[in-house]
Amino acid sequence: MRLPRRYLTRFQSDDLPHECADVAVIGSGVAGLTAAIELAAHRDVVVLCKSPLEETNTRYAQGGVAGVMEEDDTVDAHAQDTLRAGGGICDEAAVRLVVERGPACLRQLMSWGARFDTAGSQPVLTLEGGHSHRRILHAGGDSTGREISRALAARARGERRVKFHENTFVIDLLTQPDSGAACGALVADRGGARRIIWARAVICATGGAGRLYRESTNPPEATGDGHAFCYRAGAAMQGMEFMQFHPTTLYVAGSSRVLISEAVRGEGAYLVNRRGERFMPGHHPDAELAPRDVVALAIVRELAASGDTCVFLDLRHLPRPLVEERFPFIKRECAAFGLDIARDLIPVRPSAHYMIGGVKSDLQGRSTVPGLYVAGEVASTGLHGANRLASNSLLEGLVFGEICAAQIRENVPAGPARPARLASSDPARPPAYINIDDMAGSLRALMWRAVGLEREGLTLQRAVEDMDFWGSYLLTQESTSPDGFTLQNMLTTCRLMAESALFRKESRGAHFRRDFPARDDRRWLGHVECRAGEPPEFHPMQARPGDPPARRPASGREEEGLRPK
Ligand code: FAD
Ligand code: SIN
Repeated sequence: MRLPRRYLTRFQSDDLPHECADVAVIGSGVAGLTAAIELAAHRDVVVLCKSPLEETNTRYAQGGVAGVMEEDDTVDAHAQDTLRAGGGICDEAAVRLVVERGPACLRQLMSWGARFDTAGSQPVLTLEGGHSHRRILHAGGDSTGREISRALAARARGERRVKFHENTFVIDLLTQPDSGAACGALVADRGGARRIIWARAVICATGGAGRLYRESTNPPEATGDGHAFCYRAGAAMQGMEFMQFHPTTLYVAGSSRVLISEAVRGEGAYLVNRRGERFMPGHHPDAELAPRDVVALAIVRELAASGDTCVFLDLRHLPRPLVEERFPFIKRECAAFGLDIARDLIPVRPSAHYMIGGVKSDLQGRSTVPGLYVAGEVASTGLHGANRLASNSLLEGLVFGEICAAQIRENVPAGPARPARLASSDPARPPAYINIDDMAGSLRALMWRAVGLEREGLTLQRAVEDMDFWGSYLLTQESTSPDGFTLQNMLTTCRLMAESALFRKESRGAHFRRDFPARDDRRWLGHVECRAGEPPEFHPMQARPGDPPARRPASGREEEGLRPK
């Protein structure tokens, strides 16, 4: 994509009110708050979040957080499960780092006040798809995220050197014109009033992008803002074709697509079709506990074959007390629609859940932009490869939140940043009337149709062309409100996802191409990388001794014959 502008808005830093911090943390989920707490004894930290502090994806996490907590489980087994789910393109060093450090981070989280479910003094561990061992800690039955959020927010709010700016929308990262290094953020309050937060280092922990799709488990905040503004700031983006679809979202008219946790299947629930038949055993030896991409695609095929709109989770063979005690949140949500989860079948279908791709980062949490660190769902550390193993993301947020803080403590001098003189005179057109809700709805519908569970070249190509047309008037105008900036970010992130999905001509993990249904390790064992102003590039995995030579794929444009409209 030819990005029309570096910044979304015109500004002159001298004209704007400002504040100086040592470190700016964008995001108040598990990754952002962990980083802020870890920095609090050493630096003045400003946490920026576009909604109230606890309105995050983190708060809605259900199933739990994975970690090796028992003697008969091993770090090696957790690493192997993660690598298997990742479809051959996990970064093994990132996998080892996260699963090895995970248990210590979990104990640290408990020492900060998080209370996981226990039997006596031992944590109760559950199972989810792709895990070879019961290793998922949970809280409040199925309200793990709520408890983690509560504990982190309480701890962070008690830190004298951590300041919070809630309901503060980050429009853009600021970078030094000479070095390109991150030096702060341009923000707007709810009413649109702008100011600058200068910082010596910025941690971007803005979470996911599920709300770029018509069907999603995510709360409204997950619009891929951080993906878009890091990309505009020059960061390399990796794996943007990989969106994970969760197989089981409540499908009842009027429900807001509530997730029905994979832990429900971990405790023994079956997936059945309208005739009451289990279909997963025909698709994978692990049946209902196969990796998420396998289960989600099996459901899509079942629906295509039957013409139905949903399949069902069946818990009727499980003891009522177990079901009610383990899943109080799901029980309540279903009861609101007259469904008794121990007695009735629960209608479900897949929806967009977890953004695997993101800002490319190394094992120190560094992006390719100096001074810009990334952690949590917005980052692409290499842990997840082409498909995330269930309950590994809260763990990744904890581990990389801590790593980013440690890196900044070691490498970034203490003391408040000094204001720089920056200006953007990008030739933005004056605000035009655009119906934001209508356009966001069209974009989400297009993503669902063209960049959904099953993709193919022609549809992806048309989606890219449509997005380019929309971008020609949306991305060149000056927005006046956070809603307008959000829509611009959504379009930018969607375009990156569609273009990367068009580029990868094979099927792997969460990315399934009808026109290239097989995995092709000879050509595609590696990562698709995007940078502003440049076409996508393929970066092969580091070859290991004995690997067959990889062929470099031709550019997506030549092969698909991408034509202007
Ligand atoms: P988030 O928790 O999403 O926080 C993002 C923050 O960034 C928010 O504070 C937001 O306000 C802020 N932000 C975003 N854009 C801007 C902007 N422009 N300006 C200012 N601030 C901004 N994972 C598991 O491991 N286990 C589970 O059981 C599990 N269950 C899940 C269930 C559901 C329903 C969902 C939606 C996800 C689940 N996940 C689970 C995934 C997991 O919750 C997320 O990947 C993780 O919480 C992301 O944390 P984060 O810190 O990266 O971002
Ligand atoms: C779930 O509870 O099914 C979600 C777990 C996850 O996304 O890791």
